[in-house]
Amino acid sequence: EHGLEAPSYPWPHNGILSSYDHSSLRRGHQVYQQVCSACHSMSLVAYRDLIGVAYTEDEVKALAAEVEIEDGPNDEGEMYSRPGKPSDHFPKPYANEAAARFANGGAYPPDLSLITKARHNGQNYVFALLTGYRDPPAGVSVREGLHYNPYFPGGAIAMPKMLTDGGVEYEDGTPATESQMAKDVTTFLSWAAEPEMEERKLT
Ligand code: HEM
Repeated sequence: EHGLEAPSYPWPHNGILSSYDHSSLRRGHQVYQQVCSACHSMSLVAYRDLIGVAYTEDEVKALAAEVEIEDGPNDEGEMYSRPGKPSDHFPKPYANEAAARFANGGAYPPDLSLITKARHNGQNYVFALLTGYRDPPAGVSVREGLHYNPYFPGGAIAMPKMLTDGGVEYEDGTPATESQMAKDVTTFLSWAAEPEMEERKLT
């Protein structure tokens, strides 16, 4: 059972010989990091996966070092925190599912590592969902704490509209319109779900 069928958008990386747009991946990571990672984990992705894809090795070292990683136990049997390393996976926003639900009115923000694979018409669905918030049609009411979105199964989603024009400031100067951010973050999520694709097309 799914919501309104998303249109088929012309994703540049879908062509037989085309690979991912690296600038878009980099911007998409920026959107994930600055917006989505507050609620959604991407636990299958390690910082080093971004090397040569969206960032240089030095940039990845710097990115990883910005986060605090819980590690341990050490020789004394204690947990401790340390700066991230490229081999670390992206940190999770919540300690566990109960904490995630508690913070989100009972709804669970799913891990996004494989979301474009896990959902029907994945990347089109994610783009349509992110840009699909609108007022409910006359006669349709949405429960308190939910938001009308025809692309979400059932038409009402606990995630509020996250992307509005200017929501991030792209470091490459690209105007951060709602649809630009949705396209970039969806491209990033598509890449994450199949990182081997780029390699495959180049061989
Ligand atoms: C659900 C993506 C930001 C909270 C979802 C779903 C997607 C998604 C694709 C639907 C999953 C499904 O089909 O089951 C994103 C992206 C984000 C973002 C790409 C950044 C641009 C956030 C943020 C929050 C959040 C910042 C918290 C403030 C949730 C919750 C759900 C959800 C609670 C579950 C909705 C429900 O079951 O009704 N998100 N999200 N999301 N998201 Fe996000």
